[in-house]
Amino acid sequence: MKITVIGAGNMGSAFVKQLTRAGHQVSVTARDAAKAAQVAGAHPGARAVPTAGAAEGADAVVLATAYGDAASALKAVGSLSGKVVIDITNPLTADYMGLTIGHDTSAAEEIAKAVPGAEVVKAFNTVFAQVLAEGADFGNGRKVGVFVAGDSARAKQTAGALAESMGFDVVDAGSLKNARYLEPLAGLNIYLGYGAGLGTGIAPTWIRKA
Ligand SMILES: NC(=O)c1ccc[n+]([C@@H]2O[C@H](COP(=O)([O-])OP(=O)(O)OC[C@H]3O[C@@H](n4cnc5c(N)ncnc54)[C@H](OP(=O)(O)O)[C@@H]3O)[C@@H](O)[C@H]2O)c1
Repeated sequence: MKITVIGAGNMGSAFVKQLTRAGHQVSVTARDAAKAAQVAGAHPGARAVPTAGAAEGADAVVLATAYGDAASALKAVGSLSGKVVIDITNPLTADYMGLTIGHDTSAAEEIAKAVPGAEVVKAFNTVFAQVLAEGADFGNGRKVGVFVAGDSARAKQTAGALAESMGFDVVDAGSLKNARYLEPLAGLNIYLGYGAGLGTGIAPTWIRKA
């Protein structure tokens, strides 16, 4: 698939690494063009592109900026009408130990309102950058799960296919409204990783009796 990654930070660079490794054609754009060029240069199969028009021709756009930058970043990449937008953000407080919105909305729903023509899907927000960068295989048959929530079947299918191509299990988490659950789940993951000291080599998953 042709994928545009917006953001060249911890998550953006890990996406570029794993998506190119999985054989996708990856374009990366960032506020700082030099950062995008550096990340693309480290991964054959990736290219850095200017922000204006970065979404053109993409099968999916991965939004890897802070939640506060999300709306402006999406509006800068060109028309998103009919495009799959994978929202990985968590609306974190400045100390990372809480969420700024929730209960009656979510980052994903607010982002969907900001880009009304796009097909927004929530995914990967519970996957630490370290886990994404190092891979989904935790050994002994254990694979990290990616929770996928959205109102567009096509967008969910695309996000799920991308996750599977990178070696993740996929958990269908229902409609976009269920991002209201997924964002606090990421909050718990962050607490366990940083607050409780388990580190960032952890991931939430879901199990079912055979
Ligand atoms: N880190 C994790 O483990 C993790 C896990 C799950 C989900 N997330 C979520 O993923 C998102 C990214 O996290 P991160 O850790 O990768 O953050 P990060 O390292 O700070 O990277 C964010 C990147 O977005 C770029 N950016 C900001 N505004 C932009 C714009 N308008 N256009 C293009 N790029 C723009 C930033 O550029 P500058 O460098 O110029 O500011 C930066 O490179 C956040 O919403 C976070 O909550 C993170």
